[in-house]
Amino acid sequence: MSPTAAKKTKLEGEVFYPNPETLTGTHVPDWEAQAAQASKDLTGYWARRAEELEWVRKWDTVLDESKKPFYQWFVGGKVNIVQNCLDRHVKTWRRNKLALIWEGEPGDQRTFSYHALNREVNKFANVLRAMGIKKGDRVTIYLPRIPEIVIAMLACAKIGAVHSVVYGGFSVESLHGRILDSHSKLAITADGGWLNGKIVKLKDILDEALQRSPSVEHVIVVKRTGQEICMDPERDLWYHDLMMLPIASPKCETEVMDAEDPLYILYTSGTTGKPKAILHTHGGYMVGIYATLHDVFDIRDEDRWWCTADPGWVTGHSYMVYVPLLNGATSFLYEGAPSYPYPNRWWQMIEKYDITILYTAPTAIRGLMRFGEAWPNRHDISSLRLLGSVGEPINPEAWKWYHRVIGKERCPIMDTWWQTETGMFMITPTPSVPLKPGSGTRPYFGALKPGSGTRPYFGAAAEIVDEAGKPVPDGEEGFLVLLKPWPAMLRGIYGDPDRYVKQYWSKYPGKYLTGDSAKRDKDGYFWIIGRVDDVIKVSGYRLGTAEIESALVSHPAVAEAAAIGLPHEVKGTAIHTFVILRSGYSPSLELMDELRNHVGHEMGPIAKPEEIKFVDSLPKTRSGKIMRRVLKARAQGLPEGDVSTLED
Ligand code: WT7
Repeated sequence: MSPTAAKKTKLEGEVFYPNPETLTGTHVPDWEAQAAQASKDLTGYWARRAEELEWVRKWDTVLDESKKPFYQWFVGGKVNIVQNCLDRHVKTWRRNKLALIWEGEPGDQRTFSYHALNREVNKFANVLRAMGIKKGDRVTIYLPRIPEIVIAMLACAKIGAVHSVVYGGFSVESLHGRILDSHSKLAITADGGWLNGKIVKLKDILDEALQRSPSVEHVIVVKRTGQEICMDPERDLWYHDLMMLPIASPKCETEVMDAEDPLYILYTSGTTGKPKAILHTHGGYMVGIYATLHDVFDIRDEDRWWCTADPGWVTGHSYMVYVPLLNGATSFLYEGAPSYPYPNRWWQMIEKYDITILYTAPTAIRGLMRFGEAWPNRHDISSLRLLGSVGEPINPEAWKWYHRVIGKERCPIMDTWWQTETGMFMITPTPSVPLKPGSGTRPYFGALKPGSGTRPYFGAAAEIVDEAGKPVPDGEEGFLVLLKPWPAMLRGIYGDPDRYVKQYWSKYPGKYLTGDSAKRDKDGYFWIIGRVDDVIKVSGYRLGTAEIESALVSHPAVAEAAAIGLPHEVKGTAIHTFVILRSGYSPSLELMDELRNHVGHEMGPIAKPEEIKFVDSLPKTRSGKIMRRVLKARAQGLPEGDVSTLED
């Protein structure tokens, strides 16, 4: 059945019932039964899913809880995620299938069959091995959205090296901190990447970061933008030169890994202090993410999947790089900005490449919505059959626009809730035929409510609790916790096991603390409200108040700084800062600009504050901690709440 022939989603009140025709033949027709099975027999369920993939050696134990919260999955199993991303497919007809379709911002295109991608990965893996990179070594990857980022990540995984990808939008200090913490010996970058018609000079930024972090012995540079750059003859090597060497053979053995061996670390902002390195492993992560794309986005051979996330964030790691390949799918990658050169760029590419599933963030939807529906309407985007949303709560207005204008009222929207730490979807709608209220034990199964991620995925269990850890009644706000381990869960914080226990498992022993506040409604649907810690989600990007504050304080004019997030129409949340100047400096518009640019230079453009307010004092507790909660309330004209700990 062609997607265009499908009837529209039915809207009743605020509940959307996807039309059964759109969902004919979905991978999981009996979602409810499977959910019940997974909830009854968690390990049996995951063992069955793991068997859908190839292993060098099968596991002895599905889940080892003896060292919890250091849970271990598929213990004794031997596998490399790349074995299932590439090796498995090149042995079948899929070798001739497209793995990756890529378009650069200037409009250049490249495509890779599974065979071709495998070849490039093998060549680069051989280069890495020849350079002395071994199993367990960390490699920092700082690349734009070009095919080489996928190749580099897979090549690292293939030889058992642990990649640490740093988002290309981060700048000197953020990059430096991540290189230093990971003790990377090797960094992979490009001369630049295209964004909004301009070159982001990645190599220059890396050079500056490396002046502050000497652990890196070599830098491999991909030529992308072609402008003149500085190459250190002792340290820097061109990617294209290396790939021409005889050692860059297209045959390469995949390193056999223990299921629990590290696959990658990815830095993310936490409650306090420096970003922490979230650790994911080969076995459990592979099984968990594989299952989610297969089930939730119903991925099929004829699909063309587009996850718009940057590979530098977890959405890119899981759903742009690894999971489409695990499922033998074809995915699309675009280098540049959504509205360059015109606001139809995305819609034009959906039409051109016949994209069938689009997975993006609410901020992008709101941003494109601002340009009006004439832009998407001039393109035939009827190839789309499913839509997705991730990264922050989607406001019902954006949901409905996405549903009506992009999905033409036929494509169900999968609003997936998860985190860097969870690795995979944890709360997500299902592309299953909805039952009417009263016709089953779970009345709205399969039905969508704009703004809700609906319910936990197979085997997952979530709960809303109060400060003391007691479940709150439906409809009341509280802390979102997860109750059961899942295969793609983080295995800790690299180099800091105590922080892992303290941050996620101490507040409510035995329950995983997400850091989000949420509500559950009477139908069991979850509604995420937002972060309750010092994390700010700016345009879906996760930043920490502490990092922004320390970037500000590193400027000679700043004595003290506080950062908070306030609601913003497009960004969801925007960064507002309060600054106390050192004596000898006085507030001015020039200084404000200078400080914004300073944050941009140190952390990256996404961290530039929306607003800088010069103040004489900051509300603090008697022990000297800034009370951001009070600043936030004041800025919004809301009651300040309990201020008994406020210093005089
Ligand atoms: C935080 C995690 C999930 C991958 C990208 C972000 C927020 C994420 C949703 C959603 C409401 C969401 C939460 C979460 N979040 N998805 N569908 N609805 N909020 O990963 O950078 O680790 O951020 O993003 O606040 O805790 P991340």
